[in-house]
Amino acid sequence: MRTTYLPTGADGLDDAVTAALRDVDRRGFLPRERQVYAADDRPLEIGRGQTCSQPSTVSAMLRLLDVPPGAHVLDVGAGSGWTTALLAHLVGPGGEVLGVERHAELAAWGAQNVASAGMPWARLVVATPGVLGVPRDGGWDRVLVSAAADRLPRDLVDQVARGGRMVIPVRHAMVLTERDDDGTVRTSEHGTYSFVPLVQD
Ligand SMILES: C[S@@+](CC[C@H](N)C(=O)[O-])C[C@H]1O[C@@H](n2cnc3c(N)ncnc32)[C@H](O)[C@@H]1O
Repeated sequence: MRTTYLPTGADGLDDAVTAALRDVDRRGFLPRERQVYAADDRPLEIGRGQTCSQPSTVSAMLRLLDVPPGAHVLDVGAGSGWTTALLAHLVGPGGEVLGVERHAELAAWGAQNVASAGMPWARLVVATPGVLGVPRDGGWDRVLVSAAADRLPRDLVDQVARGGRMVIPVRHAMVLTERDDDGTVRTSEHGTYSFVPLVQD
């Protein structure tokens, strides 16, 4: 049975995440032959054994991330660029989104998809071998990770700014990591999900 994801009011919420899911068309982030399935609430193949994540899962992750306008955001495992574009919608032109993807072919295609979305404050680059995430002076206000780690990666926790948040699947648990203004890190679990593995070279 096909389950359709309807951003408008489907989950009873009409917030910035709903607006982003409504305005950023998933079809623009899928291979041509998969575009007909864009509204299906399931992961869709994008090549190299990877997927464009399930809309209801992305929606839950973005709500947990709680992205404010103007934020500086890192999107790890950017793949098709869909989450990068959704984050760009959330931060608006006063913010910045950097997507990072380890497969060079996917990164090149995802970068084109993001460019076509018309939000120049977002871009997608290929990951630097041996580097997890993208270290930034002062850290990132928000970090979204769309691949599952075996355990909470210290390298990514270190990239979260003071007052910042990271959402990352760890094995099957969705983990929210929050760094307080004094630097203290807290983690909490928010449901169970399945993701492709986060590769740590
Ligand atoms: C679920 S998929 C893509 C989800 C993507 N956000 C989207 O909307 O299409 C997760 C991606 O993480 C990538 N990935 C895995 N480990 C990575 C790493 N260490 N750095 C960057 N990307 C990674 C995979 O290649 C895959 O494309």
